[in-house]
Amino acid sequence: MSILSWDDFEDDAPKQTAQPHQSKTIEPQKTTDTPLVSDAKPSSPHVAATQSSGASATGTEHSTDSLARASAALAHLDVAPGLEELEMGAQRVQVDDKAMINCRADLNQLVPFKYEWAWQKYLDGCANHWMPQEVNMTHDIALWKSENGLTEDERTIVMRSLGFFSTADSLVANNLVLAIYRHITNPECRQYILRQAFEEAIHTHAYQYCIESLGMDEGEVFNMYREVPSVARKAAWGLKYTQSLSDPTFNTGTPENDQILLRNLIAFYCVLEGIFFYCGFSQILSMGRRNKMNGVAEQFQYILRDESMHLNFGIDMINQIKIENPHLWTEQFQEEVVQMILEGTMLEIEYARDTMPRGVLGMNAGMMEEYLKFICNRRLAQLGLPEQFAGVNNPFAWMSEMMDLRKEKNFFETRVTDYQTGGALSW
Ligand SMILES: [Fe+2]
Ligand SMILES: [Fe+2]
Repeated sequence: MSILSWDDFEDDAPKQTAQPHQSKTIEPQKTTDTPLVSDAKPSSPHVAATQSSGASATGTEHSTDSLARASAALAHLDVAPGLEELEMGAQRVQVDDKAMINCRADLNQLVPFKYEWAWQKYLDGCANHWMPQEVNMTHDIALWKSENGLTEDERTIVMRSLGFFSTADSLVANNLVLAIYRHITNPECRQYILRQAFEEAIHTHAYQYCIESLGMDEGEVFNMYREVPSVARKAAWGLKYTQSLSDPTFNTGTPENDQILLRNLIAFYCVLEGIFFYCGFSQILSMGRRNKMNGVAEQFQYILRDESMHLNFGIDMINQIKIENPHLWTEQFQEEVVQMILEGTMLEIEYARDTMPRGVLGMNAGMMEEYLKFICNRRLAQLGLPEQFAGVNNPFAWMSEMMDLRKEKNFFETRVTDYQTGGALSW
């Protein structure tokens, strides 16, 4: 692992001509016939003028012009329009000014904290940081490529799981960034949403890492959410809740629109991340418990830990919006939410039947159905709604242990990190 040193920054200018580092980082571009940076024609007129003259005098003239323009622009900088709704000299943000939605207080001020739970989840998420390439995939590759390593049913489970998740995490990330972020109007929750968005990117990276390591047909896997009915129906169900919110003209502020936002949060946090992930997660983790596809299972285990935090954050956010806006949580709306959770459960049961036509890995569709009904009851209870399936039990109690990795091993002591941490910076 190369150590990043502050000296690198100081040495930047003279190193531009040496280029050993440049040619190393852009090497893969050779295969696409893209010229190396050093050979490339300058792309901007400014660079062209500077380089073609070959004279430092011209470069100095240009930088003098640029400096003059920069100074002139700053001399005319008016702070008010840049800060939009902020009144300069207005009172500082007070805790009581903050709100989950439709808040008019300055969103650039993280403190004073009002939603400590969101900030704590942000800290917990950062403390759980991991990267897909830290997981050893050697045994998985050998097993996947060996003829009798896995049964056909086991192979279907691996393919379907990667097919669903590889695009589902992108749907979740896009919904976060393009639909809900601007409507959640407090900086603590936004801080966590930004962390969550990065974790979703890591999850998509993890699936891609598995797909690439195992040498799967990438087109087949990434198009499953459009081509395999039990996968496509789940994706389509989620997507319909993101449509109106991602419309740039959509705004919260009326009971109807605030309910549209709530529906989206319930669809994505409680159903997509809270129900749709659970059949695939338990199948892959069960495979790992049987000592098969350990690398894929380990990736899924870290993802599951992240996801259970995303779910808990979503539940807290929805419940806090309910507390602050009780007029939105009407009896009719509650009935609608119960129906949404039931629809999600039924789609996931459909997926379980499709992926497990026979018993496999010590589980079968019937057991999965009971597990999903148990999960459904749990989601409803977390939202303060009545359970819909009396007397169901959790047939996979081991799943709860899987979510708490600390019991099993110390992630940070057993992993070799490829990314640079603060500790790797040398002064
Ligand atoms: Fe995810
Ligand atoms: Fe997530």
